[in-house]
Amino acid sequence: MQYRKELDKINSYKPGKPIEELRRQKKLTKIYKLASNEIPFQPAFIKNVVNKELKNINRYPESTCFYLRDKLAKNFKINPDSIVFGNGSDEIITLALKAFIDKKDEVIIAYPSFLVYQIQAEIFGAKVIKVPLENYSYCLGKIAKKITKKTKIIFIANPDNPTGTYINQEKMDDFLKKVPKDVLLFFDEAYFEFAPEDFPKSIEILTRRKNMIIARTFSKAYGLAGLRIGYGITSKKIAQLLNKVREPFNVNRIAQVSAQAALENKDFVKKVVSFINKEKSYLYKNLDRLGVFYPKSATNFILVDFKKDTKKLYEYMLDQGIIIRELSGWGLGNFFRVTVGTRTQNRKFIKSFENYIRRIRK
Ligand SMILES: Cc1ncc(COP(=O)(O)O)c(C=O)c1O
Repeated sequence: MQYRKELDKINSYKPGKPIEELRRQKKLTKIYKLASNEIPFQPAFIKNVVNKELKNINRYPESTCFYLRDKLAKNFKINPDSIVFGNGSDEIITLALKAFIDKKDEVIIAYPSFLVYQIQAEIFGAKVIKVPLENYSYCLGKIAKKITKKTKIIFIANPDNPTGTYINQEKMDDFLKKVPKDVLLFFDEAYFEFAPEDFPKSIEILTRRKNMIIARTFSKAYGLAGLRIGYGITSKKIAQLLNKVREPFNVNRIAQVSAQAALENKDFVKKVVSFINKEKSYLYKNLDRLGVFYPKSATNFILVDFKKDTKKLYEYMLDQGIIIRELSGWGLGNFFRVTVGTRTQNRKFIKSFENYIRRIRK
């Protein structure tokens, strides 16, 4: 069979275990998924718009996402032509690589960080330069030092996944001075809505530095992960390029109308963020009590340093109906990541974690 042999070297992305899969594997009545940084409830306000849109599903969606684009542009006071929509913000990553990478171009990423950058960059034949995190954070100084004439894109997850740490405005401003204008900066802001006050004002940065893409999503704080819709904010020129390589009907009708409804219900995100912050404090307090280390998170998940291999812990949790994220694929075999859930879910997670610690100490 004649296929691209470099694919043999690429490890596929392994998502958090779906609830349905665990249900098929184990006879459990209650399953709590705390593995994929989803929020633990549905945005009820989309029900009406989804029902209304069902009558149109024999028709293709509008390729331009016209109404959503208009709303989003007004929301951020930006030019509608500078937005690109994707089937999740994952697709914005792929579109950037598709439009910018020639074989052997260099792409700089931090390691460990969001795995999709490396997987997709390698699929497009780029050489991936990995810069280790320092103290659970991006080391922008070291990233800047890795820039060469071949560097095409630098991916920055801000806040980061899986650490939950973030780069503030001051550090970002300093970094920007060191990055040549012809390098595309990709700011992945999937958790933007959870980030604190001193988070970089990236849309403002874009007015000064055109060669950049800000990717955001409706999957996290807006609660629409299952619908797959995200977007990139960039310059008009880059938006045109990404739209050239984009599949025309990549964002379905239900996703488009739901995202519009999400933008109209601003209170929902506010409530989500305050709920998550409260529950995150509950988890912090209990993790402190159990004496485990975690970096402070600017997101809806926490990276926990268990200091021992977490495979057995992961399996134990599955038996209890709790899905956490095992991170061996990130090279973090002694860590796990847990998404902030409801109080019931968080309490059950802490109780099971505590029981496991007691068992292994015996
Ligand atoms: C840092 C980061 N970027 C992008 C994504 C992709 O999100 P989506 O494709 O659902 O928008 C995720 C999802 O977990 C993420 O953690």
